[in-house]
Amino acid sequence: MKTIVVAAQKGGAGKTTLARNIAVAASQDGGRVLCLDLDPQGSLRAWWESREADMPAMLERDPAPEALRTTLTAAQAQFDLCVIDTPPAAPEWLAGALAAADLVLIPVRPSPDDLRAVGATIAAVNRARVPFAFALSQTPRAKITDEAARVLAQHGRVAPVNIAQRVSYAETGATGQGVTETSDDRASAEITAVWTYVKGILHG
Ligand SMILES: Nc1ncnc2c1ncn2[C@@H]1O[C@H](COP(=O)(O)OP(=O)(O)OP(=O)(O)O)[C@@H](O)[C@H]1O
Ligand SMILES: [Mg+2]
Repeated sequence: MKTIVVAAQKGGAGKTTLARNIAVAASQDGGRVLCLDLDPQGSLRAWWESREADMPAMLERDPAPEALRTTLTAAQAQFDLCVIDTPPAAPEWLAGALAAADLVLIPVRPSPDDLRAVGATIAAVNRARVPFAFALSQTPRAKITDEAARVLAQHGRVAPVNIAQRVSYAETGATGQGVTETSDDRASAEITAVWTYVKGILHG
């Protein structure tokens, strides 16, 4: 089982949106996917509660952060992928969660404020010594997006496809879907591309 941790200390960066869409895309790709919500806000679980399909799965209760390793070990046999959502903060246990990742995905909005804030997350993943990749999130079609990609590329790899600002990402928060399950073909194509990229890193 591979483990993806979605992390960014900045609030609203797009962690939960990325986590749920990657989890759905991986499920549609035939994977047995487990989602864990380590954010006390519980947004990933709230989305999942409004969902009907069996995959991705969630546990009856999410583990306390200290029990994450045990939960991951227990899930090994049953799942191909675990996608973990984390809070917009740096609680003490975050280092342990990052260290459990095969890949940390870091969503970043292309704004100067968000770029400034991402330094703390980069430092945390570097301390954990795990592979990571940025995904530009909620991107407008504007010069600022390309500039942000250039800045991030100096610190690590950047997903080759941006997650654009689209109503379907927000709407599917309420319907329990992934955008790849909707008629928004453009959102679907970008999530499929991000998943293909992520899969390449996990299995490359
Ligand atoms: N690509 C997008 N297009 C449009 N809206 C988006 C997109 N990504 C996220 N959003 C919206 O922006 C808000 C923040 O996104 P999300 O909840 O994924 O961020 P987060 O990093 O998980 O936030 P928090 O730090 O509070 O956990 C949500 O209302 C979400 O619906
Ligand atoms: Mg969230």
